[in-house]
Amino acid sequence: MKLIRGGTVVNGDGSTTADVLCGDDGVILKVASGLEIPSGCDVLDAGGLLVMPGGIDPHTHMEMPFMGSTSSDDFYTGTAAGLAGGTTSIIDFVIPEVGGSLVEAWKLWRNKAEKAASDYAFHVAVTHWDERVHEEMGILARDCGVSSFKHFMAYKGALMVDDGVLLNSVSRAMELGALCNIHAENGDAVAWMQADLLAKGMKGPAAHPASRPPSVEGEATQRVIAIAGLIGAPIYIVHVSTEDATAAITRARAAGQRVYGEVLAQHLVIDDSVYQSDNWLSAAQHVMSPPFRPKHHQKALWAGLVSGQLQTTATDHCCFCAPQKMNGKDDFTKIPNGTPGIEDRMSVLWHHGVRAGYLTPEEFVKITSTNTADIFGMTSKGRIVEGADADIVLWDPEATRTVSAATHHQNVDYNVYEGMTLTGLAHTTLMRGDIAWKEGDLRATRGAGRYVSRKSGGSAVDALKRQMAEKNPLSVA
Ligand code: URP
Ligand code: ZN
Ligand code: ZN
Repeated sequence: MKLIRGGTVVNGDGSTTADVLCGDDGVILKVASGLEIPSGCDVLDAGGLLVMPGGIDPHTHMEMPFMGSTSSDDFYTGTAAGLAGGTTSIIDFVIPEVGGSLVEAWKLWRNKAEKAASDYAFHVAVTHWDERVHEEMGILARDCGVSSFKHFMAYKGALMVDDGVLLNSVSRAMELGALCNIHAENGDAVAWMQADLLAKGMKGPAAHPASRPPSVEGEATQRVIAIAGLIGAPIYIVHVSTEDATAAITRARAAGQRVYGEVLAQHLVIDDSVYQSDNWLSAAQHVMSPPFRPKHHQKALWAGLVSGQLQTTATDHCCFCAPQKMNGKDDFTKIPNGTPGIEDRMSVLWHHGVRAGYLTPEEFVKITSTNTADIFGMTSKGRIVEGADADIVLWDPEATRTVSAATHHQNVDYNVYEGMTLTGLAHTTLMRGDIAWKEGDLRATRGAGRYVSRKSGGSAVDALKRQMAEKNPLSVA
């Protein structure tokens, strides 16, 4: 047993001074002030610290084959780095081959993830449509604990799905009570822009943002919202990076549609000036999709989080080292897309969100943990309450560190926050009651992570189904 003593417990709905008793089974036994110390119990002094639910990153890509490379953080190194930064669970993406079996791909990812140091769940991508996909979505939702599916509207010729696939898949997910995630960029437009830019001799990383301007994201976001509106299905838009997409989500929500939006910590604090670097590698290291945007978009993203129109924060953690990025030396369309970030998300949001006065500590907890647990059905996570998993971060709101690839734990040779000094750090991280990080000492255990099985359905989906059955939808596009 462990007793966390004398800290301020911060949940999404309020803060209180209390002790937290964690059982040997990794579950929180009690949250109350002045708890007696049971015999044989370890005591962690949390005086001056905040005791918060461990972060949940709903968007990571560990050891993912993508654009001719495999992302360099595996499920152990990536989740260990997350624990160092206060993140105790991830939701990663199973990416089946186009035409391949969803269930077989899910099994492959289950195998890869056995080495994870933190808990993990999976969204499964739908990359084509046929009868087997229809059937396997059912198997995954009913028997495999998968309650969310992913769709890429971009990456033409690889993962991209068209509107027909989206209609079929969103409708099937709705039937199953599962939630669809969407990467919203118009992939045809991107492919056309890429070809045009290459034909004009623009081959370097600066052409990457030019090939995917904000309107490309805004259009796709609006389109998939319209598609979901026809079906009456909820949807979740990943990595919202523009005011255009934020506005589309806000409009849909105001019209009564259940649309959720996720923001990456990177997009909140890094802008598109990174692509103007004279250093090719530095610019290439920032190639991700959607790209970094002109600064004014950051304001819209912060406002979206503050107003609750955007609900979660993630990292899209997808690492490629210099030799991998070099694959696109002569052609920006071949630079593997992705940036790291799992280790720094919580600190970036505390420093630039809470300390800057945009977010309260309780809102910080909601957007780093609770909202993700609720939206994705991770029912034992996201709160410091009796019966919840003892996934806890003892947060030092005043401690400071300067980010560097030389000292980070991510298995990648750069850090997009290099040189950024952040105040607000994970002092101690407990993953189901075990100390995985304490004052700079990483004790993440290979294979300690468990698969988080999630149930489909729930009252929001039932309500939406009633709304459609009554032929009285609040919002049909
Ligand atoms: O650039 C990115 N985001 N790489 C990972 C794949 C994706 O689009 O999420
Ligand atoms: Zn994406
Ligand atoms: Zn992603």
